Amino acid sequence: MQLRAMEHADISEVNRVNRDAFRALLKREKHVAFVAALLRPNALWDMYRTAGQDRCFVATAGKRIVGYAITHLWGTVGWFGPLGVAPDWQRQGVGKDLALMSVDSLERNGATTIGLETMPDSVSNLGFYSRLGFQSNAMSFVLAKSVLNSEYELAEPLMYQTDFSSTHKEAIIDECGELTGKILPGLDYSGEIHQTDKYKFGTTLFFRHDDKLIGFAVCHSGKYFRSERAETLRVKIAVAHPAAGRNQVDRLIAGIEAFARQSGKYRVHMNINARHDSWYRLLLERGYRLVATGLRMTWDGYEEEISSDAPDFNRWVG
Ligand SMILES: CC(C)(COP(=O)(O)OP(=O)(O)OC[C@H]1O[C@@H](n2cnc3c(N)ncnc32)[C@H](O)[C@@H]1OP(=O)(O)O)[C@@H](O)C(=O)NCCC(=O)NCCS
Repeated sequence: MQLRAMEHADISEVNRVNRDAFRALLKREKHVAFVAALLRPNALWDMYRTAGQDRCFVATAGKRIVGYAITHLWGTVGWFGPLGVAPDWQRQGVGKDLALMSVDSLERNGATTIGLETMPDSVSNLGFYSRLGFQSNAMSFVLAKSVLNSEYELAEPLMYQTDFSSTHKEAIIDECGELTGKILPGLDYSGEIHQTDKYKFGTTLFFRHDDKLIGFAVCHSGKYFRSERAETLRVKIAVAHPAAGRNQVDRLIAGIEAFARQSGKYRVHMNINARHDSWYRLLLERGYRLVATGLRMTWDGYEEEISSDAPDFNRWVG
């Protein structure tokens, strides 16, 4: 077995290995919730792969791909996933090698936080990551809200723009970097904004108040699984200035919902780390319902630093 960087030509096979690995997990642990053992659009894999540059890996046995790992780097925050091994190659150390290679590459590329999210109800995954040295850190939640029967309108002064033309691109990205630096020094979501734009996988909403950027939301309207209907707007990331306050964050989320409705979506998915309790509660108050959970685990010495008040809606799930 050998490890090497993932290439574009690997993607169809990686897609099948991913489906088979999760299918085997569901067969083994029937109670595990919300795991889709399905083929994903190849563009989604490619979007991750090119963002990860040489930090996405495959394990090969001869010409065959028997495992894969995708890493993600948000400035100094690094995480990996999905990671999977072909069912007939599991429990032979392939997953361990891929996980350790991911940690090593994130570390070498400047990550000071390194982690992953897994299914809290999968004993084999928890055992696997615990034996490797990862520690349980926090729950993370996916919440969903139907926007089908509601009227949404976003009134001034809080407006969003979706304009991401080349003339403004760098200036907007700089503003976003300044904002996320206030949430956590080193945090940088610019890769997510660029990739979403480049792959036409969705839109980033930039929220302004008195012409100042007070938040942004990277919204994915593309399908995560080939066979699903494209009716959900998945908010990959949403952030607001730490001084924004509850009312403004509430209006920012209303803006996302308005955008979802205007773009013909029926449902919005938002992510939140459970340690951001007040923002989790805000989502519940806005009528969101919990639809999936994850367990965030981190590598010893690379724990997550969070300011619990900062409005930072994300998950470490690819
Ligand atoms: C999780 C996964 C990547 C692990 O890959 P793998 O190649 O089988 O893993 P390894 O052989 O390197 O290590 C397996 C080790 O996990 C540990 N482990 C597994 N189940 C365990 C349990 N219930 N309790 C404690 N440790 C456990 C053991 O140390 C085991 O090694 P052993 O078989 O020698 O005892 C693989 O099972 C997979 O593809 N699963 C489906 C997809 C998935 O869930 N991915 C992770 C999503 S976050």
